[in-house]
Order: sequence, then C-alpha cells, then structure tokens
Amino acid sequence: MNDELVFHQFVRVHTGCASYLIGSENTGKCILVDPLIDTERYEPFLKEHSLKVVALVDTHTHADHLSGLRYFSSLFPQAVIAMHETAPTTFQYEKLKDGARLDDLISSSSFSIKVIYTPGHATDHISLLLEPPGPRNRLLLSGDCLFIGDVGRTDLGRGDNDLMYISLFQKLLSLEPSTEVYPAHVGAKHFLATEKVRTQIGIERDTNPALQVKSKKEFLKYMTEGWPPKPPYYEQVVNVNLGRISLTEAQEEVLRIEKEKPP
Ligand SMILES: [Fe+2]
Repeated sequence: MNDELVFHQFVRVHTGCASYLIGSENTGKCILVDPLIDTERYEPFLKEHSLKVVALVDTHTHADHLSGLRYFSSLFPQAVIAMHETAPTTFQYEKLKDGARLDDLISSSSFSIKVIYTPGHATDHISLLLEPPGPRNRLLLSGDCLFIGDVGRTDLGRGDNDLMYISLFQKLLSLEPSTEVYPAHVGAKHFLATEKVRTQIGIERDTNPALQVKSKKEFLKYMTEGWPPKPPYYEQVVNVNLGRISLTEAQEEVLRIEKEKPP
C-alpha cells in the first residue's frame, strides 16, 4: 500500500453492516462511506491516524439500518454530506453524478476515488472505485449492489431488476478481475454463506450464483425467488434516513433493530 492512502473496513459484527474510511496520511483528511450510527466505533481509529472527517457518503438510502450521516454531521459540522443526485432526502447534500471524483475532498495527490452509478438495489445507488497509484489493485466499494457470493435484493421499494442487470453485468463486471470488492454487508450474519469480508471482481464473476446466469431472463428469475424475509420496519428506516422522520419521532422498534440480531 502506498504511504499516503489510509483504507479501513469497519464491521458491525452482529448485523454484518460494513462501512469504510478512505483517508490521506499526508493531508489528515478522510471520507467515511456508509457510516453507522455508533460514532464511537470510529473514534480510536481517527485518533490513532490523526484524521479529520471531511466528507460523509452513503452509497444509497439504506433500508435495513440507520445511516450515520447525520450523527457524524453533528460531530463534524464542516463535513460535506454526499450522495447520488437522485437521493430524495429532506436535508441538503452534495449531489453526485456518475463519473464524479471524490479525491479532491481529501486533497489526495496520489489516488483517485471515482463514482460509478449502479442503480438496481436502489435508484440512488452508487459504487466507489478507489484507484491507488502503481501496480496495486483497485478497490471497489460496492455498497449493496455486489456482495460476496450474492447481489443486493431489489424488493425493498426502490429497486429495479433491469437496472441491476446493467449495473452488474455492464458496469461492475467490466472492471479488472483483480479489483478488490468491499461490500456494505459482509459475513454470514447477513444471510451470506461466507465469513469473508472482501472478494474480487474475478472471483465473483466466476462463482457468484447471481452472476452465473446464462441470460437476462434467468437473472430476472434469480432476483425474484428465494430471498429472506424483508428487514423489519424497513419503510420507517428509509424515512428516518431520508430525514422525513426525525430520530426522536421514530418508533422505538426502529431504534431497536440497530441492536438486535437479524432474524
Ligand atoms: Fe441497502
């Protein structure tokens, strides 16, 4: 790894939710991607590396857990909140388009962070491609589009199977096979049959059941069969994450799901 780049994966073990920190050792600035609400999880790492959070990015409007965007925003009022331009939030944010670059935010001179619009799981879904210099593999933060051994479900109200097909087969699978993949959910606790915390595009292309289909028709069939129960209170979780319901107004059940094990 080059000297400047700081990259770290944070996993909430009991739910499998994963979030990421991308920072610069040189500038002391970092971006949090898909931050969770338990902000204390990140504090020791930020302190150890003397990093300041300058941007908060959600890969999409989450439906299965509360987003930490606004929690961190109160701790780091100068930090920019950024999401895809179609996210229908009630709060202001920096509207990202396909192809946008985020490395300027942390004043990085040696690596780039590019937005890839990957709708399907949700209409406002983006993935982030981190490109370190030299021969090092690229890193893809794939959100809930591509998982380890599966793909994101599309039945939580804002999904689209046709768009998911394009995002997976035309966009993500066109990346170099060596690209390392870091999803927003990892591990067996999220119904995924593996404890791994990262994968590669080439491995998923060759082994992921959702990507072994022979036709789009077969893919559409895969996307509509055999999914686990929908997460509890997901509609309310979306409304909280969009700012339509304040956290104090949210039902206790919504707050409780952050602490419970998944069904
Ligand atoms: Fe999601």
